[in-house]
Amino acid sequence: MKQRIVAGNWKMNTLMHEASRLVEEVQQEVDARVIPSHIDIVVCPPFPWISDTAVRLSGNHGTHGSKKASVIRCGAQDCHHEVFGAFTGDVSAPMLVDVGCRDVIVGHSERRQFHGETNELIARKITAALRAGLRPIVCIGESSDERARGRTTEVVSEQIDELITYAGAEALNASVVAYEPLWAIGTGVAATTGQAQEVHALIRSRLTAHGAPDTPILYGGSVNATNAADYFACSEIDGALVGGAALSSTTFLAIINAACTAWSE
Ligand code: PGA
Repeated sequence: MKQRIVAGNWKMNTLMHEASRLVEEVQQEVDARVIPSHIDIVVCPPFPWISDTAVRLSGNHGTHGSKKASVIRCGAQDCHHEVFGAFTGDVSAPMLVDVGCRDVIVGHSERRQFHGETNELIARKITAALRAGLRPIVCIGESSDERARGRTTEVVSEQIDELITYAGAEALNASVVAYEPLWAIGTGVAATTGQAQEVHALIRSRLTAHGAPDTPILYGGSVNATNAADYFACSEIDGALVGGAALSSTTFLAIINAACTAWSE
C-alpha cells in the first residue's frame, strides 16, 4: 500500500504553551481512533518546542507514569547539511534524531527565498537527513511569475533533476516530495485539483524516469478543512503539507479525518 502523509508545518508560530496545547489536542483525538499504518501524521514545530513535543508524543510526559506512545511523528522544519561544527544558530540532523524527530522539511520555498538555499545545498541536506535516519520532506514549486510565463514544467523539472544530480535517485526514492506552488502558500489561493494533478503527474514521471518511483508526492499551499478531501481524491496526490491550517487543532484534525476517509483500507 502506498504511504500517505499529512504533515503540519507550524513555521515560526506558537509560544511554548500554545505548542503544547496544540499537540495535546491533536494527539488526544488522533490516538483515540485507529489510524491505518499507511497514513503518517507529522507535526513540525519550531526548534525550541521539538523536544517537548517529541516527549509528549512518546507518552513519557507528565508525572503519571508512561502513557501509550502516539502514532503522530515529530518533524523539524530544516536541518544543516553538516553533522556538527562551527555553524552558529544551526541545527544538525543527528541532533534532531536525538530529540525524537523522524522527519525533516528541507528546501521549503521560504528557506529558498529568505536564506538563499539552492538545489545543491538542499540535496546536501537530504543526504545529511537520510544519513542520520530522518525522512526528508523535500519542497519544490514554481512562483506566480514563472507560472504566468508558462515555465512551470521547466522550473519543476529542473528542481527534480538538480536534486537527483546532487543527492542521487536512491535518496529521492527514500524521501517525500511536497509540491508547493509559491503563489498558493499562505495566500488562500490554493491550486485547483487539476493544476495540482498536472504537476504531480509531471513530478511522478520525472522521478520514475530517474529511478525513484516510490516517492510519495504531497500537495502544499492553502490546504484547509474544506478543500483537503478534494486533493485526497486525486490519484496523483499522496497527502498534504499544511501550514496555516495546522495551527488549529480543529482544522488540522478535519484534514486528518479527510485523509482517513479517502484512504481507509
Ligand atoms: P499554507 O503553507 O498551508 O499556510 O499555505 C503551506 C506551507 O508553506 O508548507
